[in-house]
Amino acid sequence: MRILVTGSEGMLGQAVMTRLATAHDLIGVDLADADLTQADQVQALFQRVDPGWVIHCAAWTDVDGAETAREACMAVNGLATELMVENCDRQQAGLTYLSTDYVFNGLGGATGYAEDQKRDPINYYGLTKARGEEAVETMNGPWQIVRTSWLFGDGSTNFPKTIRRLLGQKPQLKVVDDQRGCPTYAEDLAAILGFLVTSDSRGIFHGTNSGQCTWFELAREIAGLIMVDAQRIGACQGSEYPTAAMRPACSVLQSQRLEASGCPDRESWQDAVARYIHLLESGQARHP
Ligand SMILES: NC(=O)c1ccc[n+]([C@@H]2O[C@H](COP(=O)([O-])OP(=O)(O)OC[C@H]3O[C@@H](n4cnc5c(N)ncnc54)[C@H](OP(=O)(O)O)[C@@H]3O)[C@@H](O)[C@H]2O)c1
Repeated sequence: MRILVTGSEGMLGQAVMTRLATAHDLIGVDLADADLTQADQVQALFQRVDPGWVIHCAAWTDVDGAETAREACMAVNGLATELMVENCDRQQAGLTYLSTDYVFNGLGGATGYAEDQKRDPINYYGLTKARGEEAVETMNGPWQIVRTSWLFGDGSTNFPKTIRRLLGQKPQLKVVDDQRGCPTYAEDLAAILGFLVTSDSRGIFHGTNSGQCTWFELAREIAGLIMVDAQRIGACQGSEYPTAAMRPACSVLQSQRLEASGCPDRESWQDAVARYIHLLESGQARHP
């Protein structure tokens, strides 16, 4: 199948381009190829590529910056997604839209969120991604919304990489222990997307590695993997690190619909982080 992958230079987009390359005819595009907020550029892109399916990874992902650059964020996450929907329908292409745990307020308790729970975005970025979801739900053709969370992978910045670097620079770290979620390796999410686009599954899915933890627990796992004394990492409250955008207390994503779709078992977040840290430690990462 010919698949248009937007945001192909981003963390997830790169993983998708690598993972799905042997099974599909992939056309990756990023901002340098087309500004997806511009209707004429999107239409020209669709006419040129004529995709059978689109995996829409492109997004405004600066969560704190979104609180002030509201218009720009809404254009990328809301308007550009509306243009994706319009053009997919015109050219009879299916659409997979990547979304986020931040479409929920994080106050749902330890069991987390099912796919059909009501959206109630915690911050402006979450609101714009929710707008994108609403646009996708109006599509006439086949669509999938895949929400993910705490994404890490071979990209410029991510949490495991930052913790590994800081442990090399500072004797002690304090990491937030009152925010809980599901870490997700971009490689593993790319595999889930590869499964979903060739399945008959339609609707909303949650795509993460299995299990859940706090940022503090994740940081201690990383310390263990690089043979550093985990006691060097202490726990703190999120209120000690105020951010422009609010963060959810618990945004664990339940994945019943993905499991029911026949998707192969997902690896635990611990094993996924171990694979990524090994990539960094062995010098094999494209973005060390
Ligand atoms: N990262 C996370 O923790 C996380 C968590 C939950 C959900 N998600 C979702 O997962 C998806 C992938 O995230 P990611 O972390 O891989 O994102 P990313 O690394 O920030 O990549 C997004 C890509 O989209 C491109 N882009 C931005 N504006 C564009 C425009 N107007 N036209 C065309 N391309 C544009 C960016 O280009 P520039 O770099 O040049 O701006 C970038 O290459 C997104 O939908 C995101 O909302 C991410």
